[in-house]
Amino acid sequence: MKTEFEITEDGSHTLFVPELNEHYHSTHGAVQESMHVYINAGFRQCTKEEIHVLEIGFGTGLNTFLTLLESEKSDKKIVYTSLELYPVSLADARKLNYASQICPEKADVFLQLHESEWEKKVDINSRFSLLKLNRSVTKNDSLTLDEVFDVVYFDAFAPDKQSEMWSQKIFNDIFSICNPNAILTTYCAKGAVRRMLQNAGFEVERLEGPLGKREMLRAQKN
Ligand SMILES: C[S@@+](CC[C@H](N)C(=O)[O-])C[C@H]1O[C@@H](n2cnc3c(N)ncnc32)[C@H](O)[C@@H]1O
Repeated sequence: MKTEFEITEDGSHTLFVPELNEHYHSTHGAVQESMHVYINAGFRQCTKEEIHVLEIGFGTGLNTFLTLLESEKSDKKIVYTSLELYPVSLADARKLNYASQICPEKADVFLQLHESEWEKKVDINSRFSLLKLNRSVTKNDSLTLDEVFDVVYFDAFAPDKQSEMWSQKIFNDIFSICNPNAILTTYCAKGAVRRMLQNAGFEVERLEGPLGKREMLRAQKN
C-alpha cells in the first residue's frame, strides 16, 4: 500500500493512504489516540499477570510499542500477536518519530519490533514476546490461531473505507479465540459495529472517544 507521512496534532507521525483517502491514526494525534483507545481503555483494564494481546493491523507498530512501554511499568508478561497484510517497510519504520516523541532511549526497541521476523514468536525482552503474522484478516482461516487472548486491539481502517474488515464472521472468530473477561477496544463507534460485536456474544459499552471523536467502543466477553 502506498503511503505518505503526516504529522498529527500531538506532533506524532501517521501514515496517509491516498488510495483509500484514509489515515492510520487520528489526525488529532496518533499517540493520544492509541493511548486513549488501546492502552487506557483496553490494556490497562486487564488485571492478569500474563496478558495475551491480539492486534488487528500492526501497521506502524505504535500500539505494540506503547504496550511494551506500558508493560515495563509492571512485572507483567505480554504475549503479543499482530496481523498485518501490508507491512510498513523498514526504511519507513526508521523515519517514524514515535520513539523520539515518547521514549528516545527505546529507539532501538521500536526498530526491533519492525525488524523482528514475521511468522515467528520473537522475545523482544524477557517479558514481552511478539508474533507478527503477514496475512489477511479477511481470509477464511486467518483467525485460526494457537492462542487465546485477553485483550484485542481492533485497529482496522474505517468501515466506510474497508468494509470487509468489519464483518460478523471476523467478530465471531475473534470472540471464539478470547478468554473469559477478554476486552476488545476500537476507535470506531458505529451502531452497525456495536451490533456485530453484540451478536458475536460481547457485552458492548460506548466510551468517550479520543480527542476529535465523540465515542469509541469497548466490548467484553463475560
Ligand atoms: C488503521 S491502520 C492501523 C495500524 C496500526 N495499529 C498502527 O498503529 O499503525 C490499519 C492497518 O490494517 C492493515 N490492513 C489492511 N487490510 C488488512 C487485511 N486484510 N488484513 C490485515 N491487515 C490489514 C493496514 O495495512 C494497516 O496497517
